[in-house]
Amino acid sequence: MIVEFFTHLLTPAPKWVKKLGFVAEAIAIDERYKRCRKNWQPHLIASKKAILAEVKELPKGANILVLGAGGLHDVPYRCLCVDGYKLSLVDIIFLNAARKKLRGLSGINLIERDITNYGERFAHWLENTNETCPTPISPPQINELISGKPDLIISLNILSQLPIQFEEKANKIQPELDFTERELALMEQHINWLKSQPCPVLLIGDMERQTIEDGKVKEIELIPLIDSLGKPINTWQWDIAPQGEAHKTRSLRHKVGAWRLNS
Ligand SMILES: C[S@@+](CC[C@H](N)C(=O)[O-])C[C@H]1O[C@@H](n2cnc3c(N)ncnc32)[C@H](O)[C@@H]1O
Repeated sequence: MIVEFFTHLLTPAPKWVKKLGFVAEAIAIDERYKRCRKNWQPHLIASKKAILAEVKELPKGANILVLGAGGLHDVPYRCLCVDGYKLSLVDIIFLNAARKKLRGLSGINLIERDITNYGERFAHWLENTNETCPTPISPPQINELISGKPDLIISLNILSQLPIQFEEKANKIQPELDFTERELALMEQHINWLKSQPCPVLLIGDMERQTIEDGKVKEIELIPLIDSLGKPINTWQWDIAPQGEAHKTRSLRHKVGAWRLNS
């Protein structure tokens, strides 16, 4: 707890990014990864394999843009670097732990950016809740941040995460507010942005959240808008919270899919 407190304090980030919980969440992901490393491996390996399979088609030196790189657990950054690809890794926050992993590797550009364009306006609303909660507008042109055009864009385990911090805060502060339309808009805008790009896109993301008890699936929460992506090229399971991690008797499992868009 003390280490996490100081990591939070010492991580440089805009005030609103910390206020919305993105730094705390990044620290929590890293801590959960340490505790659940074994259970996460099949998902992390499947994500990396899906990325490497897409990259195989690209010439050496190609530009790859990864959205949601975060803790880098699911990014095969070393292989990609050694093979001579140029990587632009985007996330709202990169902890020092992720930066350290990349030391000594060349051709990697880390970009801290809110890919929804919503965070700062939402944070303003949190301080002015007498105003109307803002509606998401279009996402930023992230590819303008990288030198050269991307040859491949990867949306990496981020789609279902985009509304989470906003929704949690909105529910806490104004429980009567129905955030559903904003949640869908944040996700839909990301999908539309990916689909509008003039290069191949690999989207890896949750399809379902399953709650399991006594070895049986008790509840399934479907991730909205997933059907609009069509049939995934691959699916796998992510045992995100084995029994005892998030709940005494239940475990949480995500069904994850990979989609190839724009090709
Ligand atoms: C489930 S994690 C993806 C796993 C990550 N690649 C890793 O290995 O830790 C989702 C990532 O999305 C990032 N994220 C969430 N909302 C974001 C936003 N609005 N803009 C940019 N990144 C965001 C989080 O910071 C987090 O790193």
